[in-house]
Amino acid sequence: ATANIGVVGLAVMGSNLARNLASREGNTVAIFNRSPEKTDALVAEHPEANFVATKSYAEFAAALQKPRAALIMVQAGKGTDAVIDELVKVFEPGDIIVDGGNALFTDTIRREAAVRATGINFVGAGISGGEEGALNGPSIMPGGSDESWVTLGPILKSIAAIAEGEPCVTHVGHDGAGHFVKMIHNGIEYADMQLIAEAYDLIRRGTGKTPAEIADIFAEWNRGELESYLIEITAEVLRQVDAETGKPLVDVILDQAGSKGTGVWTVQTALDLGIPVSGIAEAVFARSLSSKPLQRAAAGNLPGPEVHPVADADAFIDDVRQALYASKIVAYSQGFDAIVAGAEQYGWNIQKGEIAKIWRGGCIIRASFLNRITESYADDPGLVSLITAPFFRGVVTRTHDAWRRVVAAAAVSGIPAPAFSSSLSYYDGLRAERLPAALVQGQRDFFGAHTYQRVDKEGTFHTLWSGDRSEVSATDSH
Ligand code: 6PG
Repeated sequence: ATANIGVVGLAVMGSNLARNLASREGNTVAIFNRSPEKTDALVAEHPEANFVATKSYAEFAAALQKPRAALIMVQAGKGTDAVIDELVKVFEPGDIIVDGGNALFTDTIRREAAVRATGINFVGAGISGGEEGALNGPSIMPGGSDESWVTLGPILKSIAAIAEGEPCVTHVGHDGAGHFVKMIHNGIEYADMQLIAEAYDLIRRGTGKTPAEIADIFAEWNRGELESYLIEITAEVLRQVDAETGKPLVDVILDQAGSKGTGVWTVQTALDLGIPVSGIAEAVFARSLSSKPLQRAAAGNLPGPEVHPVADADAFIDDVRQALYASKIVAYSQGFDAIVAGAEQYGWNIQKGEIAKIWRGGCIIRASFLNRITESYADDPGLVSLITAPFFRGVVTRTHDAWRRVVAAAAVSGIPAPAFSSSLSYYDGLRAERLPAALVQGQRDFFGAHTYQRVDKEGTFHTLWSGDRSEVSATDSH
């Protein structure tokens, strides 16, 4: 046996990760694919790579040094279970099976328990960065046992992106912790993309600028505090001209956004955990709304205001930039809240500062301001809400007026800005001294005797709404 790591599944993510692994000093990579033509093709295309091509699971296992470590890169779902079943047959206790796909974390918890029962380690690892990241350095979020991290850590560190001199990988926590954190990453990714899309739409419809001109605006933003991968690629997409029609590509792409499910999972999970991830949820819903052509066509003649160009385009554009920054902070703050709640629910010891660190490079949501998140958690590990950290408090202090102007302008002009507006509402809800939740409690008590607590004394109370409307203590009666 000569290989120290194996890859099963050689579609684009798998082959790029295999090539990345093979390119690092000291790595020899056993590769296996269900259809052997892909394996042969990869070896033929990359004669320089340290690959051991294998044509059966038995051959694959034999090629690996012990403890064996194999990275599965197949379509998440049933395919993953099928490969795990095969690997379990040829692997031995102490070996490690890594699922690098976008698995639902509860599936990972289930698989980890089942595989652990055989003595083999199972690691669900979130891998972010798309095809390019897989090849040159992704951000990696592995869960699984401490034992597996001993073998896996150095290998994953060898292929991860480097940010500020540190590899973008950390042992996130046990069993499904890695896939949980990757899921939240994707939720933030959805929110960030939607916010950028809203910013583009507001600028385009509010100022009449062309996509190419807006590309220049995003390129300029990318030199400032908003510097990030998603802003950078947005400029590229907006600049692209369709070869066939000569129009901006963005104008010929059908405006119905797809999704593979991770954003929906984030919201479903957050609902179960009771964590408001409203910015992320609006991003998911915005994609759903876009993909409803029948409803959109039926609503096409509903009334709305006329969109007038804004009076001062430059001022408006800078307001949008500030609103984007503030809303983006909300998305991260909500995402980290969900991580904290998930860690508590599932018993994971997740270090928030470490997560911010490994998102600084390689992944889709990488951005300069991740450093500020890392610093905020380093300064105050017990930080309750990211948006209240001194740095972020400073940002919203100087941006919230602009944020309000943008949300107001969107409403007045009839331009949908669901992520901008819901983020602002979340912010105002969070900072409100009193919320109308008190009235909701009163309503609940009225129709269902659901009781309430008081601000001025301990206990649980109920008003006799259908009686003399006096208040009784509900604490004793239960
Ligand atoms: C990443 C991405 C990636 C995800 C795509 C597609 O971190 O590299 O999150 O894992 O699969 O972004 O997601 P949707 O199809 O759901 O938009």
